[in-house]
Amino acid sequence: MPETIRPFHATDLPALYRICLLTGDAGADATGLYSNPDLLGHVYAGPYPVADPGLTFVAVDAQGVAGYVVATADTYRFQRWLESSWYPVLRAQHPLTQDPGDGTRDHMLLRTIHEPEVVDEPLYKRYPAHLHIDLLPRAQRRGLGRRLIEALSDALRERGVPGLHLGVDARNTGGVAFYDRIGFTDAGPDGGARVLTLDLA
Ligand SMILES: CC(C)(COP(=O)(O)OP(=O)(O)OC[C@H]1O[C@@H](n2cnc3c(N)ncnc32)[C@H](O)[C@@H]1OP(=O)(O)O)[C@@H](O)C(=O)NCCC(=O)NCCS
Repeated sequence: MPETIRPFHATDLPALYRICLLTGDAGADATGLYSNPDLLGHVYAGPYPVADPGLTFVAVDAQGVAGYVVATADTYRFQRWLESSWYPVLRAQHPLTQDPGDGTRDHMLLRTIHEPEVVDEPLYKRYPAHLHIDLLPRAQRRGLGRRLIEALSDALRERGVPGLHLGVDARNTGGVAFYDRIGFTDAGPDGGARVLTLDLA
């Protein structure tokens, strides 16, 4: 079966959560870093297709969903939506915890859920959209990442969105090389991450 790119369907959600975890440590498997395997997906995958339908695409191969790109067209609006519609339920279900000192990182994601950093970054005016893209190792280096970004860029252009940005962990050298190859511009550091932008005009 040839690999295909198609719009997200609600039945893809479990695969998105799995893939998010399996690629969640600067591109490598993050399974050992979290006691609750769903927390990463709750922050970096699940909210996007709910908040911004039409901007999530999946890559499918013979074994099923092997990758995705999730996005929002408007980062400011998305932040407000998280606050009103996504985080309250998670906060009630998952109280803040202290670092148990065993190397797990649940407490860091819980901090994000309970006390999200409200970002008011001037760059978001020109590049209001942002994305997260992840492919399982079996699906990498086959052109699917490029095709996912193209599908998303077309959908954003149709909505008149002028640009998009993302943050990539500086340790993720493969990810940084990928974004460079497909035309992103390095807008500078943000802690341990690089901020990258893409003009859609
Ligand atoms: C990063 C990722 C999305 C790239 O997708 P991909 O399908 O593997 O990349 P593609 O095959 O579409 O490659 C597109 C271009 O980027 C280059 N590229 C992709 N991965 C690369 C790597 N690890 N090192 C160097 N170049 C790379 C390809 O050579 C290709 O260049 P070309 O068109 O000039 O030949 C994918 O590998 C992935 O999901 N990795 C794990 C999770 C991750 O790191 N996500 C990003 C977090 S910000």
